[in-house]
Amino acid sequence: MTIMDEGIDYIKTLFRDNYGGHDADHSMRVYRNAIRIAGEEPGADLEIVSLAALLHDADDHKLFQTRNNANARTFLRNHFIAPEKVEKIITAINAVSFSQNRGRRPDTLEGKIVQDADRLDAIGAVGIARAFAFGGEHGRSLESSIGHFHEKLLLLKDEMNTESARRMAEERHAYMLGFLEEYAKEKEE
Ligand code: ADP
Ligand code: NI
Repeated sequence: MTIMDEGIDYIKTLFRDNYGGHDADHSMRVYRNAIRIAGEEPGADLEIVSLAALLHDADDHKLFQTRNNANARTFLRNHFIAPEKVEKIITAINAVSFSQNRGRRPDTLEGKIVQDADRLDAIGAVGIARAFAFGGEHGRSLESSIGHFHEKLLLLKDEMNTESARRMAEERHAYMLGFLEEYAKEKEE
């Protein structure tokens, strides 16, 4: 098995009790998005991008009580990733949520790509499904999830770090606008 196959197995085990918006499938989609973006961004280290994308939620505070990225670090160490590379992967992982919280952009190209890949998964048809899954899980009304589109999801297209992700976001953005229009129309019928 390659390290990526092992990583996929590891993620499936870690997220075995999660359903809806934050499960192993989310990590897999972010991983694939990240590879696609990296293919269009010269200079990105593909190994850092793939491992950071796959492991980006492995120590998410909402789901795991680990400290200092223990889940991601354990996996990387067990698979003989060199210490300097581990640090670069962890930096990219931490930049994904760090900048969301404090309005800062990731410093490294790899961090920018993984953040864009995570944001792509919050918009489009998948983004719509995840928003309502989140709402349901947190006891919120449909209207409250509709609010989330206006507060956050419709802004993501213009907040992408890379030009390639912004382009990939266009179609997903347009799909959300169409959905919101149809939703508003049906409500009035
Ligand atoms: P991640 O950690 O993968 O970036 P989040 O934990 O921030 O994602 O959110 C998980 C999913 O739930 C995302 O698709 C996001 O759009 C959605 N979500 C977050 N907050 C809300 C909310 N208040 N209402 C509806 N959906 C939400
Ligand atoms: Ni994520």
